[in-house]
Amino acid sequence: MGYSLVEFCHDVRAILRESDDGEGREQVRRKLEALLGDPDFRATYVGPGNDAGMEQIHQDPELHFCVLAYNMTESRISPPHDHGASWAVYGQAAGHTDMTVWSATGDAGGIEPVRTFRLEAGQAGLFDVREIHSIEYTAGARFVRVTGVDMTGEERWVFDPATGEVRAVVL
Ligand SMILES: [Fe+2]
Repeated sequence: MGYSLVEFCHDVRAILRESDDGEGREQVRRKLEALLGDPDFRATYVGPGNDAGMEQIHQDPELHFCVLAYNMTESRISPPHDHGASWAVYGQAAGHTDMTVWSATGDAGGIEPVRTFRLEAGQAGLFDVREIHSIEYTAGARFVRVTGVDMTGEERWVFDPATGEVRAVVL
């Protein structure tokens, strides 16, 4: 049975109204895996027919969570970063993404990697509020990101583990 973007957003609204916490976000992660399993969704938003780049495919008028589709032609390694006050769920549609979770060492600006895992096509991973992470994806990677708020205008932190430098970034 199919599972559409509209149904996904409906379910996410119901989940977050009930429990906008770690448990609810884990339910959102599982729903995103269900959405990625739908061939029509993939073909429409994260398939070979999509233009390269990022596109916001839903912004919730009531709860303000956002769904973004990424169709990337080139590989990329992001610096460690958080999403400010927002959680994020990443779900892979094609290629793979290696995710690294970082934690503060206690030194000013110091962070160290604590966990690495790979998202293969069909898998989704959750980063909760303020969780520092970096991502590395392959050329041709296609993925979906759900954020708790519209990240445009949201201040977030970007880290340089080599120098300990921390920058506040607003996109
Ligand atoms: Fe991120």
